[in-house]
Amino acid sequence: MPESVEVSDAAGVRTIRMNRPEKKNALTQPMYAAMTYALSQIQDSPAIRCVVIAGAPGAFSAGADIGEFLESAQSGALRPATVAFLKAIAHNRKPLVAAVGGLAVGIGVTMLFHCDHVVASADATFTTPFLKLALIPEAASSLLAPMRMGHARAFSMLVMGRPLSAAEAKDAGIVNTIVEAGAVDGAALKAAAEIAALPAGAVAVSRALMRGRLDVVERQIDTELEQFRERLQSDEARAAFAAFLSRKK
Ligand code: COA
Repeated sequence: MPESVEVSDAAGVRTIRMNRPEKKNALTQPMYAAMTYALSQIQDSPAIRCVVIAGAPGAFSAGADIGEFLESAQSGALRPATVAFLKAIAHNRKPLVAAVGGLAVGIGVTMLFHCDHVVASADATFTTPFLKLALIPEAASSLLAPMRMGHARAFSMLVMGRPLSAAEAKDAGIVNTIVEAGAVDGAALKAAAEIAALPAGAVAVSRALMRGRLDVVERQIDTELEQFRERLQSDEARAAFAAFLSRKK
């Protein structure tokens, strides 16, 4: 397990914590791989009844590491650990709670469409700047976001890249609860304990019924990824990655 992902189990709840605070939890291949492994390990474990995905103080995740985007653009291949993580979170069978403290960007937002309960800090922001990087939405968000929040709001977020505040994300049905910044992890663990205390079999069946057709979700992920790979290699995307990586602060 890389240091940038911490996994711990307590009282039937697995916590997967993204921990690369110096880069605002931008996700790298080892991080995706560790998160995929942490999910896969407990799929058939009766001991773990709920999973919490958490971040670092002030940063749930700044999304995919843009340096890796540039590498993909140069090689022409998608990064395998990213693809595996998207499939793993879509097919995950355990209830998922997210503890979003501070910023959530890109896949830090789109992974929330695969979560069942989201706690956010009052100062959380939700941004998907795919188009600013000349990319397109991923993680089946092009399907799940319009279903969740309606086309107009999903377009504003996913395509126009307009940020949502915590209150707007709650209004849009992405967030359940808003708490003070220091209380996010505690509130998420409390929700997870509540879920873990329910009859596990009935939770699993209810969740599967509510998640709908996973084959449709997976097909959307694959279709998005085909387009994503092409966009990654475009001149406009390469220029956007290079501009971010060489920006002066
Ligand atoms: N990929 C790679 N590095 C990233 C990153 C990302 N997605 N997000 C942040 N970082 C790095 C920054 O380059 C910086 O590194 P440095 O200290 O070596 O220069 C460090 O993390 C801290 O980020 P910084 O920009 O100084 O923090 P901030 O609070 O001013 O801004 C963000 C935070 C998230 C708004 C800003 O970093 C950003 O826009 N990141 C890109 C987000 C993005 O486009 N993700 C992909 C979505 S598809």
